Amino acid sequence: MCGIVGYIGHRDSQSILLEGLKKLEYRGYDSAGIAVFTENGLQAKKAKGRLAVLEGELLNAPLQGSIGIGHTRWATHGKPSDVNSHPHVNTEKQISVVHNGIIENYVSLKEELIAKGYTFTSETDTEVIAHLIADLYEGDIVAAVRAAVKRMRGAYGLGVLAENEPDKLVAVRLQSPLIIGVGEHENFIASDIPAILEHTRDVYILNDGEMAVLTKDGVTLTDLEGTPVSRETYRVEWDLQTAEKGGYDHFMLKEIYEQPRAYRDTMGPRIAEGRVVLDEIGMSEADIQAIRRIHIVACGTAYHAGLVGKHAIEQLTRIPVETDVASEYRYRDPIITPDTLVIVVSQSGETADTLAALREAKRQGARVLAITNVVGSSVAREADDVILTMAGPEIAVASTKAYSTQLIAFYLVALYFAQVKRSIDAGLLAETLQALQELPDQVERLLGEAETLKHAAEALTKVENLFFIGRGLDFTVVQEGSLKLKEISYIHSEAYAAGELKHGTLALITDGIPVIALATQETLFEKTLSNIVEVKARGAKVIGIANEGHTELAKEADETLYIPRTMPLLTPALSVVPLQLLAYYTSLARGNDVDKPRNLAKSVTVE
Ligand code: BG6
Repeated sequence: MCGIVGYIGHRDSQSILLEGLKKLEYRGYDSAGIAVFTENGLQAKKAKGRLAVLEGELLNAPLQGSIGIGHTRWATHGKPSDVNSHPHVNTEKQISVVHNGIIENYVSLKEELIAKGYTFTSETDTEVIAHLIADLYEGDIVAAVRAAVKRMRGAYGLGVLAENEPDKLVAVRLQSPLIIGVGEHENFIASDIPAILEHTRDVYILNDGEMAVLTKDGVTLTDLEGTPVSRETYRVEWDLQTAEKGGYDHFMLKEIYEQPRAYRDTMGPRIAEGRVVLDEIGMSEADIQAIRRIHIVACGTAYHAGLVGKHAIEQLTRIPVETDVASEYRYRDPIITPDTLVIVVSQSGETADTLAALREAKRQGARVLAITNVVGSSVAREADDVILTMAGPEIAVASTKAYSTQLIAFYLVALYFAQVKRSIDAGLLAETLQALQELPDQVERLLGEAETLKHAAEALTKVENLFFIGRGLDFTVVQEGSLKLKEISYIHSEAYAAGELKHGTLALITDGIPVIALATQETLFEKTLSNIVEVKARGAKVIGIANEGHTELAKEADETLYIPRTMPLLTPALSVVPLQLLAYYTSLARGNDVDKPRNLAKSVTVE
């Protein structure tokens, strides 16, 4: 998830582009760049690092002109660096492109262009677009862009300039958000409204498969075939703060609602022709066959994702998995043998405890696979193999979409290893891939239930202690639900294996104490229901969450919520959503700073 911006008008485009990028930095801050039509033609300036680095460089050598495009990057293909920054240009520097999204078939397009004699300078998927447009260019940039997007597969929000046509700015949208701002003798493109709000409140929101050609005095909308599209401008009433959160009150809520998109982006390029494709893993079939033990090591929410990963890998591959919190791992002198694979999980890729565990594992000769959300982070750089979760920047301290995309990554790793080990039959593989690809829509449906959770949260406003219970995979998810609640509502909450309560902790269940029970594992439903009856008998107030159809839950629980049905192994990717929302609404009801809770940081880079 990057941020793109563009301007065509009569004012100095550099300051407009930089101000716009500043408002889009929540979308990515690995590098930034602009391209402007100056008196010396189309010129670009780009730099690794926060936008301020680029601003510093432009201070000495500004790009003066009234037409330009800009980009702030969240690295996915190619580490943060000057050469991987956008805009990307073709060899002759006639075509300049800024891109937000992922070109899934960039490898085959790149091979084709190299065979035609094109040379590439970066590791990015985006550079392919600049060369492809140049290859198809016959004097009409609109036609060349139209022909190029027909060859591209994936997601893109594009801004394109052509040296020979300095009176046009071309924009295209497929899956990645793109808006067109309409002004007086000036027009804008942007990935999001905050970037242009101080200039205009009249925007076109491009739909998938739409293209806009901007000049100083007009905007033409068409589909990808060139058929005109007529549309009213939409008047934006938001203030800037709200706009940066995409109209949500908090980054945490926005990130919870981004999960369907994040699931699609994380699994999209990795499921093809009924198989899981993980080219990022450099292990040979023999290497994978030789794995005898797996250690999953992480901190906080990432550790909880690892607990689900253990279930997935053991179930699908029968390789034994141990899970450890990173701050304990190296001090317990773990038994690491040459056939041990260590999987470290970290949203930021900078958490010191996880990094130390990674280094310890490597020191003892283990191969390390990292699941992380940040390309170029320390964990990504030091691991042997890296699976990137495509959650996009996660701003709220309490992790939500990073956790759930880590689950998706674990399902993909488990299925991939099972494919190699032939420990899964074709039928189950097909069924599981089908169910995986249904998850984003099912999460969208669940997000429609947010009101129910707002109501349940009100009951928790004055509470100081509560319990979560669950069995099997539900027990792993309630540990995450309990952490979410603790992190942002400051209620003391404990997650408990439902069957373990009667061996002690049941003593703490008294009149009115809230118990949140997750009962989504079909084979364990009856057992969990009896644990619900157990705590009810001691006066607990139960919020029960089960799969659709389990109406018997309503007889026992005070509040119930049903989630769409999927395969038991995949259920955590759904059941965590109501727990995230419950924590959010409880924190809100208690008047806490949801995005920046006390005493916590987004990434702890000290041990
Ligand atoms: C904490 C964050 O600092 O670190 C948590 O507040 C996070 O949200 C934990 O789960 C681990 O961070 P990371 O970046 O290694 O996943």
